[in-house]
Amino acid sequence: MLKGRSLVEPEDFSIEEMDSLFSLAEKIEKDQKYLRESCRGKLLATLFFEPSTRTRLSFEAAMLRLGGSCLGFAEPGSSSASKGESLADTIRMAACYADAIVMRNPKEGAALLASRYSDIPVINAGDGGHHHPTQTLTDLLTIKRLTGKIENFTIGFCGDLKFGRTVHSLAKALSRYNKIKMLFISPSELVLPDYIKSVLKNKNVEFEERENLEKSMPEIDVLYMTRVQRERFFNEDDYIRLKDIYVLNSEKMAAGRENLIVLHPLPRVNEISIEVDADPRAAYFAQAKYGMYVRMALLSSILGVV
Ligand code: NCD
Repeated sequence: MLKGRSLVEPEDFSIEEMDSLFSLAEKIEKDQKYLRESCRGKLLATLFFEPSTRTRLSFEAAMLRLGGSCLGFAEPGSSSASKGESLADTIRMAACYADAIVMRNPKEGAALLASRYSDIPVINAGDGGHHHPTQTLTDLLTIKRLTGKIENFTIGFCGDLKFGRTVHSLAKALSRYNKIKMLFISPSELVLPDYIKSVLKNKNVEFEERENLEKSMPEIDVLYMTRVQRERFFNEDDYIRLKDIYVLNSEKMAAGRENLIVLHPLPRVNEISIEVDADPRAAYFAQAKYGMYVRMALLSSILGVV
């Protein structure tokens, strides 16, 4: 069903298609031998024009665990982009060598452009402050695995909601599910962009914008913490002023629900104190592991081996 498809934005796949990926990811998690050699002979190009640890490593781990191979670069300085090659040409070239492309790029819209120039599937691993759909697959699978459902809960997004692409993608994706209330907790300078708010309004999603995390804690079932995105600020002074505006610590956790789960796409800087890591409600490392399984499911599906 997903064979040959690109993933640029969270809504490129239907709810049913995402459900089939989650089932496949759960099957792979339970039976580590399942699909182990299924991508033998296939090549994944990982083109990272922006830094990444988890996303690149989890895609590479996923492809290697499926028996396939990876090629690519982890920084633009080592690619011909540094000689002035256009993105369209880099993509056309990678499409000659590989079976699928995973790309991260600082420019919004870069993944869409790449998908138009490529005759092999392109997966968006982050385009500027815009979208990050495979982090969304990771987040949705984590919510499903840890709470048993993707409906009927309150999610609090906290931190840099303006530049945080994982927030944009997850909020958009969750707007397709039932009875999900969203609280957007940020300073006024870092509120959610209007284009995401209008998607939520059009779908009659219940949402509120707030500034206080502590007071919101008792209402939240899923807390999605984010880093202030330093690389997208125009002015370092603004970053310094805003960077530690929210710090989730044991005191704030004490005001949280018993069955709360705390997610974070990672990397974290100061926004979650390390003392929270020992709290059973901290789910961000489990979330990183689900990311690999869902990427295995995605790669095997788009490459048409399942
Ligand atoms: C996120 C990203 O790159 O958008 N990281 C990730 O992929 N797990 C979040 C971030 O960098 O803050």
